[in-house]
Amino acid sequence: MSVLTFRNVSLRYPPRAGRSEAAQNLVLDGINLQIASDELVAIIGRSGSGKTSLLNLAAGFLEPTAGTITVDGVPIRGPGADRAVVFQDDALYPWLDARENIAFPLKLKGVPAADRLARAQQLLERVGLPEAGDRRIWELSGGMRQRVGIARALAAEPRFLLLDEPLGALDALTRTRMQEFLLRIKAESGAGALLITHSIEEALLLGTRVVVLSPGPGRLSAEIEAGFNAEVLNGASVAAVKMSPLFKRMHAGLTGLIHSSAEEELAA
Ligand SMILES: Nc1ncnc2c1ncn2[C@@H]1O[C@H](COP(=O)(O)OP(=O)(O)O)[C@@H](O)[C@H]1O
Ligand SMILES: [Mg+2]
Repeated sequence: MSVLTFRNVSLRYPPRAGRSEAAQNLVLDGINLQIASDELVAIIGRSGSGKTSLLNLAAGFLEPTAGTITVDGVPIRGPGADRAVVFQDDALYPWLDARENIAFPLKLKGVPAADRLARAQQLLERVGLPEAGDRRIWELSGGMRQRVGIARALAAEPRFLLLDEPLGALDALTRTRMQEFLLRIKAESGAGALLITHSIEEALLLGTRVVVLSPGPGRLSAEIEAGFNAEVLNGASVAAVKMSPLFKRMHAGLTGLIHSSAEEELAA
């Protein structure tokens, strides 16, 4: 079991020209958060609340201005194979085919070509694309690209998956299918997951915990436990779960929490 921990983390971007007011650049303030391997923590918040910044800190693309981020007690120093990132746009390499894209992180680790391509083929099968290995990226649908992106993220057997609105660009039907796919893949991988989304429904469905990030500067303003992902993993249909009275009640509650944090800001 691994744990990714944010302790009193704040982030301030350097001032931009013409905006010298230091307080304007404080994007995240006093973030305390833990994500264990058996969790999928969904972070929800409006545009500009600092969600991507938080994920970039966990990825090691950014350094906190204050506080520490650790994996199993060890401070992170930049990006590492223990934390894999999936973005909304798949960020696949168009000059490589699907199989080579998935094998790429293993190439960086020095795994010999035959081994890494065999492993990539296994991952293609795991994400439901056994025949797609030779296809070029532009020959894949949006949903297939995200599957390839997730397979690539899994290639180096990360301890944490950092997912920044990974399903945000998909049409509604594909998105629903991919939500269940993501849950199963996450459970099989044994990795902890941080999922950024601006869909309350998605956060509630997929998260073992849902954390609300309220803006100006980004602070964690609420946290709730959710059990719906276990129901889906145990075979309940996503459609049935979303229709249940408990789901609807929690959805309404979360909507209220997000709105009230927005109103506090207006009042402040
Ligand atoms: N590289 C950057 N330099 C300065 N400000 C930034 C930078 N990236 C993001 N911001 C600002 O930080 C705030 C949070 O952005 P972001 O983390 O992308 O939020 P979200 O993902 O929730 O929409 C926004 O006000 C944004 O303009
Ligand atoms: Mg974002």
